[in-house]
Amino acid sequence: MLDPEKPVVVVTGASRGIGHSIVKHFYDQGWEVITMARTSFSTQCPWAEGIIKHVRVDLSDKQSIREACEDLREKLNGRGLNALVNNAGISPKDEDGNRLDATKTPIDTFLAVQHVNLIAPLMLAQELLEPLKIGKGSIVNVSSIAAHHVHQFAGAAYAVSKAGLSTLTRELAHELGETGIRVNAVAPGEIATSILSPGTDELVQTDVPMKRLGRPMEVAEVVYFLSSEHASYVTGSEIHINGGQHI
Ligand SMILES: NC(=O)c1ccc[n+]([C@@H]2O[C@H](COP(=O)([O-])OP(=O)(O)OC[C@H]3O[C@@H](n4cnc5c(N)ncnc54)[C@H](OP(=O)(O)O)[C@@H]3O)[C@@H](O)[C@H]2O)c1
Repeated sequence: MLDPEKPVVVVTGASRGIGHSIVKHFYDQGWEVITMARTSFSTQCPWAEGIIKHVRVDLSDKQSIREACEDLREKLNGRGLNALVNNAGISPKDEDGNRLDATKTPIDTFLAVQHVNLIAPLMLAQELLEPLKIGKGSIVNVSSIAAHHVHQFAGAAYAVSKAGLSTLTRELAHELGETGIRVNAVAPGEIATSILSPGTDELVQTDVPMKRLGRPMEVAEVVYFLSSEHASYVTGSEIHINGGQHI
């Protein structure tokens, strides 16, 4: 089913936004792409075989992750995995659409955010370790500028989860260096997707030196670079993709 001549990437949160661009970019570069999301494979996607290379998963649920990984290992059928992109993420707001501060976040919401944004990437790394070893694969975690600064719109639970993901990137890079598995992160700023809050356009004018939103494909290209041979000596790094917002 998978072309043995092509490298294989698994992408979470592939159904829209940045994940969708990541999928398109790897596919255009000639990779076999296995997509993961809660929703079924979109019929609007440009390739017919995508539907059989899609794995449904709810990353907020441990059992669903385990079952999805079993399905994935079956699809791989003993061959290596060359890249895992932990892109899926959630950023809940309060009922009026405002930022959820730490003291106002219901604990169940806080835990759910940690599960999708942080625990799921760790579980995927654990569950897919053998295929990643065989493929001398690369893991790219999609963190956020909110991991590093208090953000006007991203809530506290989200920021904590992304800071955890950045730290997990460092830990895994250290632990897996000898195996040939490289682990890196990207930290997008304001990228034009549905996750953005109203008011982002004003924030871009005040906080982003390049004075514009990023495009999902501008994240996908860096994720691809980190997964490719061009980054063969890069591990434990995090690349800001934010038009200079972090400076
Ligand atoms: N856009 C930005 O400006 C920005 C900035 C910094 C960081 N990021 C990060 O970049 C990543 C992608 O963001 P985006 O803007 O593209 O987000 P998005 O448009 O909201 O897409 C989020 C993706 O995550 C998936 N997802 C959410 N909950 C899930 C669950 N429980 N199980 C499985 N999949 C789930 C969604 O798929 P389904 O709904 O189909 O399940 C969707 O494909 C996230 O990690 C986000 O934190 C984005």
